[in-house]
Amino acid sequence: MQKTKRLLTYLFSTLMLILLLAACNSDSTSTGNNNEDGDKKAEEKIVVGFSQIGAESGWRTAETESIKETLGNDSRFELKFSDAQQKQENQIKALRSFIAQKVDIIALAPVVESGWETVLQEAKDAKIPVILLDRGIDVKDESLYTSFIGSDFILEGENAAKELIKLMGEDTKVNIVELQGTVGASAANDRMEGFANVIKENSNYNIIKSQSGDFTRAKGKEVMEAFLKSDGDNIDAVYAHNDDMALGAIQAIEEYGLKPGEDIKVVSVDGIKAIFEAVAAGKANIIVECNPLLGPQLAQAALDLQAGKEIERWIKTEETVFVGKEAAETALPSRKY
Ligand code: AHR
Repeated sequence: MQKTKRLLTYLFSTLMLILLLAACNSDSTSTGNNNEDGDKKAEEKIVVGFSQIGAESGWRTAETESIKETLGNDSRFELKFSDAQQKQENQIKALRSFIAQKVDIIALAPVVESGWETVLQEAKDAKIPVILLDRGIDVKDESLYTSFIGSDFILEGENAAKELIKLMGEDTKVNIVELQGTVGASAANDRMEGFANVIKENSNYNIIKSQSGDFTRAKGKEVMEAFLKSDGDNIDAVYAHNDDMALGAIQAIEEYGLKPGEDIKVVSVDGIKAIFEAVAAGKANIIVECNPLLGPQLAQAALDLQAGKEIERWIKTEETVFVGKEAAETALPSRKY
């Protein structure tokens, strides 16, 4: 009897011990898991893959910095950055790598308008939303991207022409040379179209030469040198699709022995500090602003998308026009890029 009692006590204590251990064990596992989940939630970042065109201009550098600063300094994001060195094939490779890495959102600043269907279809199939930054694309199926953040380039071209006509007078005969941006880029196509829309309405104004300077200072200078060589004193104004090319043209005009801003009026798009300095110095005349500080808008769009909200199809940027020395001098101290 005593033996049975001892055996029962032993069995009971063993059972209790097993139960106690199991409870402790299950407690510690669940606590661990909860913490892990909690940590994971707190750490879950929105992964944004950004395919940038390159670093061809001061504007482009300002755009890259804005995105790196905004997303890089915000713990809610993880930014994967890729510089395509001006090549569409590099951008396509970068997009495929973002898809393979299963990023949450792809941001694409497309170098040219055409040739995106296949890779964007791949992103769509992988359910990764694509946000276009600053430049547009030409696709039949508009559902291949979610939103476009950037400027109205046609309007910029129209404003450039309107301001030039205001400056020089409707009744003056004006010969214009045009420095286009990268061939096939929406920024070049649309700025050319907008400018031509207004110019063709006034028979005193003629675009006598138009060629690509690839949005760079060196190429802008080179093309302007060629224009000066062929048309020399016949040129009254130069319209550059960006500031870097305008700055190259200013140098070419000076080396040719003429005064930029006086003998040849200079109209430019972007609004980097260096062109404000040139206008303040009387070497250029009109700046059509194009805002590269797209980081905050991209961040907001990414947060909204992640929260399941609808975002606007075209998120436009605020811009203005600056004409003449005084306007440039006043604006210079507060220019951010
Ligand atoms: O797409 C915007 C244009 O690209 C800017 O005007 C130019 O400077 C840049 O390289």
